[in-house]
Amino acid sequence: MRVESADVYNSAQIQIRMIVNGQSMEATIEPRELLLDFLRDRLGLTGAKRSCDVQVCGTCTVLMDGRPVSACCTLVYEAQNRELLTIEGLADGDELHPLQQSFVEQSALQCGFCTPGMILTANSLLEEIPNPTRQQIQHYLKGNLCRCTGYWSVLEAVELAARRLQAEGQSEGSA
Ligand code: FES
Ligand code: FES
Repeated sequence: MRVESADVYNSAQIQIRMIVNGQSMEATIEPRELLLDFLRDRLGLTGAKRSCDVQVCGTCTVLMDGRPVSACCTLVYEAQNRELLTIEGLADGDELHPLQQSFVEQSALQCGFCTPGMILTANSLLEEIPNPTRQQIQHYLKGNLCRCTGYWSVLEAVELAARRLQAEGQSEGSA
């Protein structure tokens, strides 16, 4: 995939390469271009949301090389030669990721505005710590704010997903 800069009159442009949701791509960007604008406005990946715009709320979270970043305060240039995962790339085709499924089953969302960031941050946690304590989940998710659901069901959803992912891993290991 190749994406051209939105501002063709801006002469200071940079060519970069990256992988977005498993797809290798090249893009022409402006040095000042924010990752959140690039994802939402140019790639149409609108799962990452803009809210505080100052790296406080977590609604814009995406994963860069598996680690959560605030796309509202990250330049696209920083994604050069890196791998990005947005919420649109988490499911396996029509099959929801265990975290997505657990959030649905535990009613861990209402408006859903914070949910992509919550799930991606939790995904990073479970990659690092497959069986986290509740305190570890709380600590890891402290930068993801929710305005309507509260946090109890979110914690339970992450714990449920952790159990499922571990069970999947064990069944694959014994197959
Ligand atoms: S919009 Fe990026 S952290 Fe709030
Ligand atoms: S579900 Fe509405 S902000 Fe979290």
